[in-house]
Amino acid sequence: MSFLLEFVRDPLTVGAITPSGAALARVATAAVPRTGSPVVVELGPGTGAFTEAIQRRLAGRGLHIAVEVNPRFAQHLGALHPGVDVVTADATDLAAVLARRGISQADVVVSGLPWAAFAEHRQRDVLRAVVAALPPHGVFTTFAYLHSRWLPPARRLLTSLRARFDEVVVSRTEWANVPPALVYYCRRPVTEAP
Ligand SMILES: C[S@@+](CC[C@H](N)C(=O)[O-])C[C@H]1O[C@@H](n2cnc3c(N)ncnc32)[C@H](O)[C@@H]1O
Repeated sequence: MSFLLEFVRDPLTVGAITPSGAALARVATAAVPRTGSPVVVELGPGTGAFTEAIQRRLAGRGLHIAVEVNPRFAQHLGALHPGVDVVTADATDLAAVLARRGISQADVVVSGLPWAAFAEHRQRDVLRAVVAALPPHGVFTTFAYLHSRWLPPARRLLTSLRARFDEVVVSRTEWANVPPALVYYCRRPVTEAP
């Protein structure tokens, strides 16, 4: 499975030329509880950098649903991680994905989505779907590349996150990642946000 080839095929959907590294994966998945039976949704798993870290934290507990729009990534991931419920779907269809499994909400949503490559309406639609899927105690984590952090799409994302969550905490920069990146931890969703 070539991540780079998938980027060449559809750069705006894949949004990166290389998968995230292990250090960023650890930070991005730190909100997955090490106890209990949480429902964890992963958006945009790609080749599974965060998937592996989530599976390690869950250690056989709970439910891990990975929503990937690219069918080649989804097929590869399903073969690699039989314990993960891999769905070929768009993140905006999260409510329907959960409903088909008899679930309405997730304890944690971990995003690997390329927000900076998304148009404004796409960012809004995906964020709405995420907030709708989270209970009051739910946590949403997502990452941003340092080099694009101050560009309009990334700034728009941070503004939207702050409008839709009561608390948004920014991690330190993961310099070991290529390219360097940071993680946003978003807690207490605001359901009446625009
Ligand atoms: C930047 S890559 C990150 C992959 C992986 N999480 C990582 O960090 O290495 C973005 C991923 O999001 C997927 N993606 C993009 N738009 C999506 C959408 N609307 N719904 C679900 N997955 C999407 C892409 O196909 C790709 O796998």
